[in-house]
Amino acid sequence: MGHAAGLRAGTRYAFSRNFRQKGMIPLGTYMKTYRVGDIVDIKANGAVQKGMPYKVYHGKTGVIYNVTKSAVGVIIYKKVGNRYLEKRVNVRVEHIAHSRSREEFLTRVKTNAQRRREAKEKGESVQLKRQPVGPRKAHTVDLTEVESLAPQPYDTHI
Ligand SMILES: *[C@@H]1O[C@H](CO)[C@@H](O)[C@H](O)[C@H]1NC(C)=O
Repeated sequence: MGHAAGLRAGTRYAFSRNFRQKGMIPLGTYMKTYRVGDIVDIKANGAVQKGMPYKVYHGKTGVIYNVTKSAVGVIIYKKVGNRYLEKRVNVRVEHIAHSRSREEFLTRVKTNAQRRREAKEKGESVQLKRQPVGPRKAHTVDLTEVESLAPQPYDTHI
């Protein structure tokens, strides 16, 4: 059978807008300030066909290198075979959002510096390494009172 291989082939769901996110684009999208060096996530908005990223860049995170009136240039590293190639894509601001990928690191740098300072004042050593959450602590389940559950008759909740 014939098989389409267009520029947007296979993007029926990737480029469709999310449930309850359809309709007018919030104006805040256009009020954000982007600066060279900002980390942004590329997420194409199907309602705006101009300045869309090519489908392989959907969901990728990159760094802004160029800012224009309604679009930004983003540097992305694309995996091609055994290497990463630097790619520069120009996308409109509707298709990007500030990435939160660096937030935790920056706050951790701050809190670590704070904790180190406090520990130094007290003359203690400080453990700054992150520990995985690990399994839950052992505990006993109290079965003295067993509650029986039964299906409720149909009821409309308003
Ligand atoms: C930024 O984008 C504009 C518009 O495409 C272009 O004229 C300019 O050369 C670009 N600047 C850089 C540093 O790539």
